[in-house]
Amino acid sequence: MFAIILGVFLLLSSPGQQYPFLPGSKHSNQELAPLSFNQNGRFRISIFEDLHFGENAWDTWGPAQDVKSVGVINQVLDSEPDIDFVVLNGDLITGENTFVENSTLYLDQMVAPIVERNLTWSSTYGNHDSSFNLSRNHIFDHEVSQWPLHSRTRSMVSHPNAGVSNYYLPVYPRPDCTATTCLPALILWFFDSRGGHFFQQSTATGPNRTNVSTWITQADWVDENVVTWFQETNSEIQSQSDGKVIPSLAFVHIPINASHTLQEKGINAHKQPGVNEDNPIGGQGLGWCADGRNDGTCAYGEQDVPFMKALASTQGLVAVFSGHDHGDTWCARWDGTIPSETTGRKGNKRGLDLCFGQHTGHGGYGNFIRGGRQVLVTLDGIGSGGKDAELDTWIRLENGNVVGAVTLNNTYGHDVYPVTPDERT
Ligand SMILES: *[C@@H]1O[C@H](CO)[C@@H](O)[C@H](O)[C@H]1NC(C)=O
Ligand SMILES: *[C@@H]1O[C@H](CO)[C@@H](O)[C@H](O)[C@H]1NC(C)=O
Ligand SMILES: *[C@@H]1O[C@H](CO)[C@@H](O)[C@H](O)[C@H]1NC(C)=O
Ligand SMILES: *[C@@H]1O[C@H](CO)[C@@H](O)[C@H](O)[C@H]1NC(C)=O
Ligand SMILES: *[C@@H]1O[C@H](CO)[C@@H](O)[C@H](O)[C@H]1NC(C)=O
Ligand SMILES: *[C@@H]1O[C@H](CO)[C@@H](O)[C@H](O)[C@H]1NC(C)=O
Ligand SMILES: *[C@@H]1O[C@H](CO)[C@@H](O)[C@H](O)[C@H]1NC(C)=O
Repeated sequence: MFAIILGVFLLLSSPGQQYPFLPGSKHSNQELAPLSFNQNGRFRISIFEDLHFGENAWDTWGPAQDVKSVGVINQVLDSEPDIDFVVLNGDLITGENTFVENSTLYLDQMVAPIVERNLTWSSTYGNHDSSFNLSRNHIFDHEVSQWPLHSRTRSMVSHPNAGVSNYYLPVYPRPDCTATTCLPALILWFFDSRGGHFFQQSTATGPNRTNVSTWITQADWVDENVVTWFQETNSEIQSQSDGKVIPSLAFVHIPINASHTLQEKGINAHKQPGVNEDNPIGGQGLGWCADGRNDGTCAYGEQDVPFMKALASTQGLVAVFSGHDHGDTWCARWDGTIPSETTGRKGNKRGLDLCFGQHTGHGGYGNFIRGGRQVLVTLDGIGSGGKDAELDTWIRLENGNVVGAVTLNNTYGHDVYPVTPDERT
């Protein structure tokens, strides 16, 4: 098992590999074609998050929730016929509840609706995807070995603190493009905000090893080694793009503190439509001290500042999509400023839209109605990710309704939209 995992890591993260404009996966005889906009210049992403499979396998309630969660995914995919690509944005599995011998198998249940429709997906991993009985490395290994023609999840940063799901994917402007014939029209960045507990690591020996209070906690922010990789790789990508800025979107499970600051300034139900029930949000570095302790004495250690600065200064980055806070579903525009920091927004003149999605799984806290955020990017709308870039996004609910449909354009934050009702299941 470990040899296989190590092998995959070396394959995907050794120097001399083929990125920046990496072509399809080569894990099997067949190629995974790169992502592209369709013939009409449209690219549709469907985001599922906080799926929380695998709760309470020992009673009837738990497995029944997983059946319902598969139902939500089917319902959303059926209501949105032209989806090109799926993102599983963290907390796929509730690791605290799973059994060490079969904990990654829940992946197969949640991806079945995606595979049945011959779609591909990419994952970020969340804080519940690492626990005493569940390893995010093992989820990754399972994805790429079991679903080589459907999973686009990669791992491009091999530093031991990096977490796993740090990578990017190019999206080409036309279906007939290859990595050698076209420049990407869009880059999708995926970051691992880590969290949870380390696999099979405990401060105790003997029977107390399985006591949650003896498990070793993993930091819950995007590691600085990943930030460095992001900035270097982005420079390399942009330097190979004939002087054009390639626009981008980012996905990370745990939101950044800037979302907290936007929330504190006030989320307007008409101008940033969405449920705003988790207030204050839980963000990266919550409960940590700046010196690395997390013994309950500090509220927030500011460890996501390097990541926030990097996001704010990335030219062409239009929006960041997070999950984690099941009771928050809005998008708000961040101007890139960080309290107490004089730098921050440098290259990004547009500001960055920070969006939550919709709690998808029937596991996990809260009875907010389930669903998934949808994103429509067009070649014309996204342009080079400048001030006038625009994209459409909305939430498809499990009851078939659409809420929170907005255009993230130059006037987002001023335009008036219908209020999203706070529906419960
Ligand atoms: C994992 O094992 C447990 C305990 O035997 C069982 O209850 C559960 O259904 C299994 N889960 C999967 C996904 O096979
Ligand atoms: C982890 O998995 C083992 C083996 O299935 C099981 O006995 C145990 O209850 C699980 N949970 C914890 C917290 O150790
Ligand atoms: C699935 O998608 C791939 C890539 O788009 C395509 O080559 C293949 O023919 C499709 N398979 C089916 C059964 O539709
Ligand atoms: C396990 O934890 C209990 C309660 O804290 C303690 O009384 C006991 O000594 C511990 N056992 C071992 C083997 O550490
Ligand atoms: C778990 O460990 C904590 C702290 O060591 C202890 O207070 C608690 O009693 C333990 N619980 C069990 C069930 O052993
Ligand atoms: C984090 O957000 C809180 C709430 O808005 C704010 O008071 C604090 O200054 C922020 N810190 C950073 C580093 O962003
Ligand atoms: C942005 O989109 C909204 C909703 O479609 C629209 O009312 C507004 O005029 C648009 N703003 C710009 C600058 O295009």
